[in-house]
Amino acid sequence: MARPEPTGIERTFNESDLIVSKTDLNGRITYVNRTFCEVSGYSEAEALGQPHSLIRHPAMPRAAFALMWDTLRAGKEFFGYVVNLCKNGDHYWVLAHVTPSFDSQGEVIGYHSTRRVPDRHAVVLIEAIYADLLAKEQGAESKAAAVDASLELFHATLAQKGVAYDEFVLTI
Ligand SMILES: Cc1cc2nc3c(=O)[nH]c(=O)nc-3n(C[C@H](O)[C@H](O)[C@H](O)COP(=O)(O)O)c2cc1C
Repeated sequence: MARPEPTGIERTFNESDLIVSKTDLNGRITYVNRTFCEVSGYSEAEALGQPHSLIRHPAMPRAAFALMWDTLRAGKEFFGYVVNLCKNGDHYWVLAHVTPSFDSQGEVIGYHSTRRVPDRHAVVLIEAIYADLLAKEQGAESKAAAVDASLELFHATLAQKGVAYDEFVLTI
């Protein structure tokens, strides 16, 4: 599927709505709720089976997803601010809560994300941080070097604020 050009137009959704999707272990979409479809502009048929990077926005730093996947693969839940790209190129900000899904044997069988409307104040703060991380990544020689350099900057930024990642995300 061709990636849409960002329009720069932001979409919002209701404070009472939750955008939900589930993936398999590789991040391929296995479930989307109606709000996901309404906000992203993709139908259920278009979304199912696609990698979740379907709605990746170019303003998102690689480091944010590296942190997410490391946390999920460690069997833990992850909170993060994400800007997503709609089918028509518009974008929308979310505060995502992503968790592994376990079967009755305790094995991880996929992942689940529930997203809500983020605080405006938090979006302004995180947007500036993500822009710095992205700039760092764009100057790197390889994808791996980009993630390393960007994560280092992210951790340094958090250390300067004196908070750990989870605390930062849930308190800004
Ligand atoms: C449950 C789940 C939900 C995800 N939701 C999003 C999302 O809303 N937007 C997004 O860009 N990536 C999301 N991802 C991460 C993508 O799988 C992918 O790592 C990310 O888009 C970066 O893609 P890339 O490495 O191909 O650039 C999600 C992953 C999982 C497991």
